[in-house]
Amino acid sequence: MGRTGTSWASPEALWEERVQRGAHPVAYPAIRGLRGRAVVRVPRVGVVVNDAAVAREVLLDTERFSKVGPGSPSDLWTPVLGPSVLLNMEGAEHAAMRRALGPIFSPRAVRELVDAGREPGGPLDELALRLDKGETVDLAATVAAQAGAVICGLVGLPPTDAAVRESMAAAQAVTGMVRLHRRRLTAAQARHARGVLEGLTAPARMAYRAGDEGTVPGRMRALGLSEREAMGAVGAFVLTGTETIQSFVPRLLAIAHDTGWMDRLLGVPGPGAATGPAAANGGGDSDLRRRMVEEGLRVTVPTPAMLRSVVAGAEVGGERVRPGDRVVIATVNCCRAEGGFDPDRAISAGVRHLWFGAGPHFCLGMPLAMAQVNAVLDALAPVAAAGGTPVVGRRRVARGVLVPAYRELAITLART
Ligand code: HEM
Repeated sequence: MGRTGTSWASPEALWEERVQRGAHPVAYPAIRGLRGRAVVRVPRVGVVVNDAAVAREVLLDTERFSKVGPGSPSDLWTPVLGPSVLLNMEGAEHAAMRRALGPIFSPRAVRELVDAGREPGGPLDELALRLDKGETVDLAATVAAQAGAVICGLVGLPPTDAAVRESMAAAQAVTGMVRLHRRRLTAAQARHARGVLEGLTAPARMAYRAGDEGTVPGRMRALGLSEREAMGAVGAFVLTGTETIQSFVPRLLAIAHDTGWMDRLLGVPGPGAATGPAAANGGGDSDLRRRMVEEGLRVTVPTPAMLRSVVAGAEVGGERVRPGDRVVIATVNCCRAEGGFDPDRAISAGVRHLWFGAGPHFCLGMPLAMAQVNAVLDALAPVAAAGGTPVVGRRRVARGVLVPAYRELAITLART
């Protein structure tokens, strides 16, 4: 039976704290220190929002708060990715590009991308086989390989081991340069990041030019995106969609282990699978997995902050802001204000899905993210159904990364 409503001094809370501090030893404790105050102006950082309702107001008010302008994501990413990559666009152009990209995230397209990690001999297939043989498996490495296989699918590369490793390393080399106190990359960093991404998107460019609709870049061309837009979108997907998954899935499993929820996490069939061996183990409520995953997202908050630039004078939770000010939405504080991991507690409407953002920039890749999470849980479910419980052993946290994560999370199977 899992403990519920866990306090922040419990094992999962302590490990989460280490994961967060490993990535951001200075910024994380500083931002957490601001919780409890809805809005705080912090010199050199910006106006920090710690309250979900105020955060939503900012995210939905595109007249006053923008992803383009001083201190916003455009300052960081435009020099690297170019001017039209969704996360640095606003208004009608942004909406048109999101519409154009919609079919890339249709259920079928997402399934095809995720299947790359599920093939025989692929990372997820290996995961179950090796656990079953009694081996210890590093879940962080497995999920990185799975996420890497998905990027290969996105950029049009065959997911060989080397290609997967290089893609992941390239993405991390770029995002690792970003820090909360740094409003833009230095010229040398931007040059380096451009070089890394150009290498990664070279196959995407070829696939776009060949117009092969079996590839994502080819499909983008058929959907009417220019080459520049398509390459920008590919770059944005690589930057936003790899480390978040690599971060979240091992943390979810670690929390399930630490709180005693593992069997139930793996005993519930995924969406659309109401019967089968997984249902037999722990079975029942098919909604439970979704709730556990959402609760895991709420407490881990893989994207811990969102940035906006103020474009017109406004009030943020009573604090006057002027054009040019930076608003830092401390999503991690907004979401964790509800308490520790407890899938039995309903998430309040104001917080629900805030970990994926809100308003016009709401995470475009959410269906792909959820499919990747479910693919790992589906790979482990038969193992659990056969009487095995994955048990977490050695863990190491990642340092110098943008998205807090485990660098290693060893799991073995305990048989009942
Ligand atoms: C657990 C995993 C993920 C989390 C927690 C997450 C979170 C977020 C958040 C919070 C935003 C909004 C940022 C803002 O408004 O400033 C966002 C945007 C975005 N995400 Fe995700 N994301 C995840 C996975 C993915 C994946 C797998 C992809 C796929 C490629 C992806 C692609 C994007 C894109 C393209 C945007 C920009 C959308 C826009 O600006 O219109 N994300 N994500």
